[in-house]
Amino acid sequence: MNAPAAAPLLSVRGLSKHFPARASAPAPGPTRAVNDVSFDLAPGETLGLVGESGSGKTTTARCILRALAPTAGQVLFRQRDGAVVDLAALPERALQPLRPQMQMIFQDPFSSLNPRLTVAQIVGEPLDIHRLGSPREREERVVDILRKVGLQPEHRTQYPNAFSGGQRQRIGIARALIMRPALVVADEAVSSLDVSVQAQVLNLLKDLQEEFRLTYLFVAHNLDVVRNFCDRVAVMYAGRIVELAPAAGLFDGPLHPYTQALLSAVPPPDPDVKMKFDLPGEIADPTRLPEGCAFHPRCPECFAPCKRLLPELRTTATTDELGCVYASRAVACHLRDPAHRPGHA
Ligand SMILES: Nc1ncnc2c1ncn2[C@@H]1O[C@H](COP(=O)(O)OP(=O)(O)O)[C@@H](O)[C@H]1O
Ligand code: SF4
Ligand SMILES: [Mg+2]
Repeated sequence: MNAPAAAPLLSVRGLSKHFPARASAPAPGPTRAVNDVSFDLAPGETLGLVGESGSGKTTTARCILRALAPTAGQVLFRQRDGAVVDLAALPERALQPLRPQMQMIFQDPFSSLNPRLTVAQIVGEPLDIHRLGSPREREERVVDILRKVGLQPEHRTQYPNAFSGGQRQRIGIARALIMRPALVVADEAVSSLDVSVQAQVLNLLKDLQEEFRLTYLFVAHNLDVVRNFCDRVAVMYAGRIVELAPAAGLFDGPLHPYTQALLSAVPPPDPDVKMKFDLPGEIADPTRLPEGCAFHPRCPECFAPCKRLLPELRTTATTDELGCVYASRAVACHLRDPAHRPGHA
């Protein structure tokens, strides 16, 4: 699937999250972790959110699920009945009944599962919290979802430490899906797994997406993982989306200098370890973001306007040889803006 055609399941508009400076901290100002992020997510689509450690991916994901309250912006979510609600504006009490429709799969299946609970308790807990079904119906739903994620009914009486990393991640997926959510946010969901296990879990996520018509926001620092799994990819730098394109277009012809650098960087296995770039300097400090384009101190293509003016995320249409628009992509770089392109009169 390319650009979303159906009414979006999720529309994020101008989302920002700034953490206030702590009085004791030497930081000069708030941490501007997410800055004016906008994108749409169509039903059944998979959007990758990529960028190096500290670019604001997790904070964006947590604001969308309202694990964090955004500083500004809208998170417009289409409910099952078609009504659109702004999650960013809802108080916790009003969010509670919506929570089953949006679930998270976490990075680390070792720390995200309570070691003192059985698989049945972990997977069935959301049903208990929302008081759904009789004990017998809950048990049936647990067994059913365990089978769907490739585990056995007899696993339900065991504890997490009896399982491998890949199996634990399947338990986490079962827990996320037991409420039949519409939106699933996976934050580095396969990063801690071996490469061969990663492929199995990604295949499982694809099958489950089809079966349950899931929409995925897939956060990852490793572009190899995103390449075949995502329909479209948004690249973040310093809390902003700098490029958003169909996955094939992004990998075959990255337009933003940061995307180009990211594609040639070797990702470390641990998403929180710094990635090695063939670029000067470090990722922009969100407590003191550079003026203009936040990437300009590292950008090999930097020219005069970059130090003063913030580049807008401009949408351009991609056309085939007959001139038909088949995908749109967006990039935030003055090089791609006819008004600023070097040599422009
Ligand atoms: N609770 C918090 N308080 C202050 N700063 C935070 C908090 N959470 C994240 N940050 C900062 O926000 C920036 C973005 O972090 P994060 O969203 O985790 O990035 P990513 O997931 O891309 O690695 C980082 O500089 C991080 O240190
Ligand atoms: S706007 Fe300028 S500094 Fe920023 S990525 Fe484009 S060329 Fe580089
Ligand atoms: Mg993260």
